[in-house]
Amino acid sequence: MDLAIEARHRAYAPYSNFTVGCALLLENGEIITGNNQENAAYPSGLCAERVAIFAAGSQYPGVAVLKMAITASPKDDSFHKPVPPCGACRQSIAEYENNQENDIELYFMGAAGKVLKSDSLSDLLPLVFDKNYL
Ligand code: THU
Repeated sequence: MDLAIEARHRAYAPYSNFTVGCALLLENGEIITGNNQENAAYPSGLCAERVAIFAAGSQYPGVAVLKMAITASPKDDSFHKPVPPCGACRQSIAEYENNQENDIELYFMGAAGKVLKSDSLSDLLPLVFDKNYL
């Protein structure tokens, strides 16, 4: 979570002023971080969780993700309730969880304060659409 906080402070969020940081622990011990990257063409931006998990997938293909820490708040650090990942990020994370043996533990919080833990992405996205339907 400390690394997610550092990543959040590097977020590029000039339009929403809502900054998100994410850190992933991989089974090989590497920690990959990401933050939200916004764009003048708003839908072209990307959430912190997907920036991080796609970076992990591109740099360490096939290496399992063990844990994911997420912190999110307006830039002024005013939000102190746990902020869960959006639906599109859940769908993206599910792809990786489904492809590996272990579940991914998710920890999420606001700028600080209470941390909520989910033992598995599947708890956050039941009835997921996955490769078995293709
Ligand atoms: N955002 C994330 O990075 N992760 C989420 O799960 C929800 C939203 C970003 C996207 C956008 O840059 C800003 O937060 C406001 O929606």
